[in-house]
Amino acid sequence: MTNINTAGWHRKHLLDIESLTAEEINVVHDTTRAFKAVGERAIKKVPALRGKTVINLFIEPSTRTRISFELAAMRLTADVINFSTEASSLKKGETLKDTARNLEALNADIIIIRHSATGAPHFLSRFLRGSVINAGDGAHEHPTQALLDTFTIREKKGRIAGLNVTILGDILYSRVARSNIHALLKLGANVTLCGPSTLVPKVFEQMGCKVTYNVDEAIAEADVINLLRIQHERQRKTMFPSIGEYTNLFGLTKARFEKTKPDALIMHPGPINRGVEINSEIADCERSVVLEQVTNGLAVRMAVLFLVNGGKGPQEIAG
Ligand code: CP
Repeated sequence: MTNINTAGWHRKHLLDIESLTAEEINVVHDTTRAFKAVGERAIKKVPALRGKTVINLFIEPSTRTRISFELAAMRLTADVINFSTEASSLKKGETLKDTARNLEALNADIIIIRHSATGAPHFLSRFLRGSVINAGDGAHEHPTQALLDTFTIREKKGRIAGLNVTILGDILYSRVARSNIHALLKLGANVTLCGPSTLVPKVFEQMGCKVTYNVDEAIAEADVINLLRIQHERQRKTMFPSIGEYTNLFGLTKARFEKTKPDALIMHPGPINRGVEINSEIADCERSVVLEQVTNGLAVRMAVLFLVNGGKGPQEIAG
């Protein structure tokens, strides 16, 4: 099987959103919808990956992505192993390549990798016989997050084309932002980026986004506001004077929230830093879909595991 772009799903790996077509994103969304329906049945398991081995190779911390991939693999009846970095031979100097090849020698069919290095999943995909799924590589991409975010927008708004989506926060260091920008633009949304100029360089305009440093302008006409936390773990220098100043200038405070459209969705990929990029009450308000994003993440990851394992689309899932 090769990584080719045609309608339907023909990919062995999910490495990024940039190389996907809008049709492929739609196939993932349609398949997600079918798996979400499976999750509403009394018996939530299907045998789609029976006899397959899925390994969660998370070399960086994660709550949502790791646990939802684990549960997704279990719901598909796969055998699933959670690799623990702290208890592994990576700590004794074993390379990522040797680690992955040893996992493959234990019959891993699908390796899900999160790594601080950009391109780590692409690297593994060059020599592993099985499938590789990117669960976040450095500041590069987090494809399943963008797939679940766009699925959630579609579910809530009924469409994506023509919507105004504002991504507010640390764009420069955010893999969530990059994957969302690619997905939203491919699906026809108008994307506005806002945050401190040190974290939202004008170069993002070359991707087809609008860049503004005026938060009131960025949120006034937004149908969707996606907040991002400051990714201190990737910043190598101070990018703004203080957390307090960041909140004053760019946080979604109550005063700013009152100026948004009455049906604007509030999104956040998590983890949330309450009181910094978003007021705590707004994070939990009726318009916030933060926990629905997490719920949809399970069905999206079932869909992705199913598709990279050779599934073609929702028509193959028993109704
Ligand atoms: N959104 C996200 O990737 O969360 P985790 O880091 O908890 O997986």
